Amino acid sequence: MCGIVGYIGNKKAVPVLINGLLSLEYRGYDSAGIAVLENNEIVVMKDKGRVANLQNMDEINNLNSSIGIAHTRWATHGKPSKENAHPHTDNSEQFVVVHNGIIENYNELREFLTKKGYKFLSQTDTEVIPNLIHYYYTNGIDDDDKFLRAVKSAVDDLKGSYAIEVISKLHPDRIIVVRKDSPLVIGKGNKENFIASDIPAILSHTKDFYLLDDYEYAVIFKDSIKFFDNTLIEHSKAIKNIEWDATSAEKNGFEDYMLKEIYEQPNAIRETVGSRFSLGEKCSFDDIDISKEYLSNIDKIWIIACGTAMHAGLVGKNAIEKLCRIPTEVDIASEFRYRDPIVNEKTLCIYISQSGETADTIAALKLAKSKGAKTLAVSNVIGSSITREADYTIYTHAGPEIAVASTKAYTSQVVLMVILAMYFAEILETCDEKTICELKSDILDLPTKIETVLDSMEKLEKFEKKVYTEHDMYFLGRGIDYDVALEGSLKLKEISYIHSEAYAAGELKHGPIALIENGVTVIGILTDPDLTLKSISNIQEVVTRGAKTLIITNQNLGNVTFDYVINLPETNSLISPILSVVPLQLFAYYIAKNKGLDVDKPRNLAKSVTVE
Ligand code: AGP
Repeated sequence: MCGIVGYIGNKKAVPVLINGLLSLEYRGYDSAGIAVLENNEIVVMKDKGRVANLQNMDEINNLNSSIGIAHTRWATHGKPSKENAHPHTDNSEQFVVVHNGIIENYNELREFLTKKGYKFLSQTDTEVIPNLIHYYYTNGIDDDDKFLRAVKSAVDDLKGSYAIEVISKLHPDRIIVVRKDSPLVIGKGNKENFIASDIPAILSHTKDFYLLDDYEYAVIFKDSIKFFDNTLIEHSKAIKNIEWDATSAEKNGFEDYMLKEIYEQPNAIRETVGSRFSLGEKCSFDDIDISKEYLSNIDKIWIIACGTAMHAGLVGKNAIEKLCRIPTEVDIASEFRYRDPIVNEKTLCIYISQSGETADTIAALKLAKSKGAKTLAVSNVIGSSITREADYTIYTHAGPEIAVASTKAYTSQVVLMVILAMYFAEILETCDEKTICELKSDILDLPTKIETVLDSMEKLEKFEKKVYTEHDMYFLGRGIDYDVALEGSLKLKEISYIHSEAYAAGELKHGPIALIENGVTVIGILTDPDLTLKSISNIQEVVTRGAKTLIITNQNLGNVTFDYVINLPETNSLISPILSVVPLQLFAYYIAKNKGLDVDKPRNLAKSVTVE
């Protein structure tokens, strides 16, 4: 999960490249580098560490080149180091490459090239690419497209995933790019063009983008772009105009992207609900064409995703089963794709992915399609890879989510899944109008209720100051509250590095309660009116064993007392996670801040897991 940027035009390339990397750092940040053509020589500057290290290199600001490529790395092959940082040149330093992805057959390619006399300076898989290009360039046919043909021949040898940018001192007027399974967008400017792993990195320069498809090549000049398919036949390509404004990808005065995105949730919900329904009108999804006959004849809905997106899927399952009575299962994409799942034309597979680039989720979608299932993608990024694989796509409209820890995308995914469930229920007529109408009303009230929750967090801050030095925490919930406990636990783990586990509250007594001892911190989520009393007794079991407790609830707990209770506004239990998750997001955020950690770019993580 690395970030790549490219520029060709009339401006100095270095500032464009550096700013692009800074906005892509959430994709990977253990090393960074740039390469430009300066006085017709390739100049590479790279090092271990953040992009800021690059900025501070003396000579980097003396580079006047107007063509360059750049990379910020999340190490897969070879530890973070200067040698392993991208860009990588071939031995003759005539070609230089940046790459996002994994070359699975790099060992055999290294052997082949070593036998041809090439030497390798790094431990990376990527370094085979520039040397392969050189090999084919010096052993290939001599014609106008020699550079492109050499790149294609090299890429034909690659197995795995890649988004590649190449420049050469032999052809200083162009950048060649190609992708498979890793994202790459081209921003079209006025006598300048931009390349990036995703849209926010270059959004401040243009709103006109080309979204490259798998196996598609582009030869990018400063005032034109040529597109080629996998047989190098040239074709034209439609431009996409992206409505996001550049500021929406900035911090707008917040200390961190994560905090900004937590506070953007009311608006993200408003935008995601959008015009999908209004009171008294049925739900509508223009982008999907699913009939009553089809829905009546499927025997299962399978929701497949990773991480937080999978947690949103759990909430979606609950809504679909309650409103539509269609058996619904949720699976982790990396498990689904290898379990030879029983999927056929009577299965509807729904894939949730904020980035739309998660390798496991995309692979799971391709598998289901190959088995005859209809596939529906839920994504936050227009034109992302998953949206181009799925039969249907519906979008959350949460705006760019930059922080690695997903917040507004999660709540937007949840609300969209519940609207989808209502949409199916209205088609199938499996739910009475009153229930649906009340649920719609509660959904429309969500933004205001989230704002209420955000305004009442002082108790939370007191509690997190008591516990932020702890090493273990436990999240408990039943039913829909267990789904939220899973998400709260993940948030805490991924940004505070505190070990935490989520348990179905009723499951505690079957073993995990052995972990509870005096002073242990337990967070309980209680919003399901039908399960509150049972959850209270489960939590009292840990209190009697000395646990300190934080309870997130919208229920009346009677005369039962806990150390800290955060009261939420009441809402329909199908959408209660959208409110109950907010204190958990802030809990994790404030603990990580108290520990002095980088909440937007946690260690070892990246925003989009585009490798297996
Ligand atoms: C969420 O906080 C994590 N960063 C991670 O679990 C993420 O949800 C997961 O990698 C899936 O990403 P996607 O939604 O872009 O597919």
